[in-house]
Amino acid sequence: ANAQLWKQRRLLITAGPTYEDIDPVRFIGNRSSGKMGYAIAEAAACAGAEVTLISGPVSLPTPFGVERIDVRSAEQMFAEVQKYYAAADCFISAAAVADFRVEQMAEQKLKKQNDVDSMSLNLVKNPDIVAWVTAQQDKPFVVGFAAETENVESYARDKLSRKKLDMICANQVGQGLGFERDDNRLTVISASETLALPQSSKSELSSKLLKIIGKALS
Ligand code: PMT
Repeated sequence: ANAQLWKQRRLLITAGPTYEDIDPVRFIGNRSSGKMGYAIAEAAACAGAEVTLISGPVSLPTPFGVERIDVRSAEQMFAEVQKYYAAADCFISAAAVADFRVEQMAEQKLKKQNDVDSMSLNLVKNPDIVAWVTAQQDKPFVVGFAAETENVESYARDKLSRKKLDMICANQVGQGLGFERDDNRLTVISASETLALPQSSKSELSSKLLKIIGKALS
């Protein structure tokens, strides 16, 4: 059924973490492996979609038939999304984007100062990529993700409305789910419905999710 829904549709997807550099050898990152976003990209390409995958630093092979653009920081991911969103029918934001970056990356490796017991980094807010896309007049259908350790559904509903998303996929993280694992469990929420997709492989979840999005697109 997905083959009918996705043939010749253009999908833009972000996946993986972003790395925010502190100095030439250190960065702030997170535990996203990219598996969820890559599984969606692969399933969509299989269903005949034209897929562009903007990927943070991960160690995964590029799915067959997918155009992949590698980035490191949230600002770089934002710049690529700005280039590609307008051509897309659908944008899926599965990346775990750092909310903050280090204000000024040090040109040289920071030295440990032996006489101090603490240090602080000044962080500044990163652009909210998915919220920028939903604010555009020529926006595609926009699907966000929410990774939460508690109050999963209510926090996700809050993000759905605050970021003006068409749909959000909430996942519980921790308890062996979400980040890094091959399995996940999603609650897919839009203005008109709430669907629970029980625990299964990220690849199986991707097919189900693409069926739900594909119906909403057509
Ligand atoms: O990569 P895996 O190991 O397979 O793990 C998958 C996952 C858990 C990372 C994925 O399923 C997931 O939930 N991704 C979103 C992670 C997240 O923490 O999102 P958030 O709650 O910080 O952000 C909500 C939404 O806004 C997301 O669609 C996010 O991509 C987007 N966002 C957030 C901040 C920002 N500056 N720009 C954004 O676009």
